[in-house]
Amino acid sequence: MREIKPREANEKARKVWNSNATFWNKHMGEGNDFVNHLVWPATERLLDLKANEEILDIACGNGFSSRKLSRIGAKVTAFDFSEVMIEAAMSVKSDENKRIDYRVMDATDPSALLDLGTHRYDAAICCMALFDMADIEPLFRSLLRLLKKDGRFVFSLIHPCFNNDRMVQIAEMEDREGEISTRYGVKVWGYMTPTTSQGVGIPGQPEVQLYFHRPLQLVLQPLFRIGFVLDGFEERAFPPEYDGGTFPLSWSGKYSEIPPVLVARVRPK
Ligand SMILES: C[S@@+](CC[C@H](N)C(=O)[O-])C[C@H]1O[C@@H](n2cnc3c(N)ncnc32)[C@H](O)[C@@H]1O
Repeated sequence: MREIKPREANEKARKVWNSNATFWNKHMGEGNDFVNHLVWPATERLLDLKANEEILDIACGNGFSSRKLSRIGAKVTAFDFSEVMIEAAMSVKSDENKRIDYRVMDATDPSALLDLGTHRYDAAICCMALFDMADIEPLFRSLLRLLKKDGRFVFSLIHPCFNNDRMVQIAEMEDREGEISTRYGVKVWGYMTPTTSQGVGIPGQPEVQLYFHRPLQLVLQPLFRIGFVLDGFEERAFPPEYDGGTFPLSWSGKYSEIPPVLVARVRPK
């Protein structure tokens, strides 16, 4: 993709998310297989929610994660920069959804973020969205102010080492002295350089979306510099028995040794 400035990329990403929001909401519902097998179990463990805690759900999409948290008693503020996503989130008719404070807000806009309050939240989550953001440092800096001193921030990512724009999923078959076997893996030829690329999150979505690949050090070093420490980390792969996926080489249990997702927790130092 041609070089694109963060402001321009952010606006382009917002337009694409608005175009894809209705399709995304229909397919995501209250959580797809990536969420149910990979993202949410680790998020719940690392979040370790206590009764009546106040939680910020960053880039909440159609709000399924906000509803899960609200259902178990959290007081949730949830935001996304796509107004169509927020409309979809708010349209769900349930008691737990009525209790959520949904907002249209941009995670790259620190002044909007800081209007939410100072040292207000027990925890924040950002599920599978940092790689959709053109710039992540304004959010990290704001989080240090938004979270209580003993707060925590749990985020999930498509694993930048194994699941990025410079990899392919492969299957290899070999005949070793009459013994035929098939191996499933990934071939990666790029990781260190941050990139902006286009791709599909859910096959069939109306428009390709932007992905902002960052090697792990470019996610963690800003957090460390700003004043967070990493204190929880899980790499998530499908269990061997899971045979889902739209295409023969879709992520599934065939790749149970390769994690397409990671979930991490950081805390203010
Ligand atoms: C892959 S979806 C994930 C949504 C939801 N967290 C989930 O797990 O289904 C990424 C979301 O990030 C939102 N997003 C991307 N950049 C954003 C930004 N700068 N501010 C707020 N939301 C943003 C998109 O609108 C989209 O809803």
